[in-house]
Amino acid sequence: MEDFKISRVTSDYPYDLLYLADPSREAVSYYLERGECWCAALGGTVVGLYVLLPTRPFTAELVNLAVAEDFQNRGIGKRLIGHAVENARGQGYGKLEIGTGNPGIIQMSLYQKCGFRFEWIDRDFFPKHYPGSVVEDDGQECRDMIRMGMDL
Ligand code: COA
Repeated sequence: MEDFKISRVTSDYPYDLLYLADPSREAVSYYLERGECWCAALGGTVVGLYVLLPTRPFTAELVNLAVAEDFQNRGIGKRLIGHAVENARGQGYGKLEIGTGNPGIIQMSLYQKCGFRFEWIDRDFFPKHYPGSVVEDDGQECRDMIRMGMDL
């Protein structure tokens, strides 16, 4: 596969990709106002992204990780996570966190392969904070947020 470049984007955000990872308009605009959006581009096309969000002193969260559907399962997600880890470490954070909905078995597996470990479960996060239900492609409803983390 042709190599892609990961660089910071501060305007003209690819909202289709941002909403692929998180359907909440409110959450996405919160992330973009407070975090850094990093995009992977291949020949001028954005194929993936993540947002690095400062949360507490010395702690950041990797949010809004997404790879365009036509480019999934080619290692881009893993490369973006590796970039986020090095990026956070380079900025002096001591901890990187990530969360996924309870149906996200692929995401949980991927995050563990990248060094994240399970920390806690934010029960009923989705019904509490998202209007309507968040349903995955296989029909399973997101109810709990699985919280994972990595010491840097
Ligand atoms: N089924 C099984 N395994 C899968 C998979 C699938 N559909 N997609 C990826 N994987 C596995 C791969 O086997 C790979 O493991 P390996 O390196 O040991 O072979 C690992 O996950 C990483 O795959 P990669 O190709 O780097 O992932 P990706 O580029 O497809 O990106 C996501 C993964 C989750 C970012 C991407 O699927 C996505 O954008 N999904 C929609 C948005 C989303 O769910 N974001 C996360 C919100 S918490």
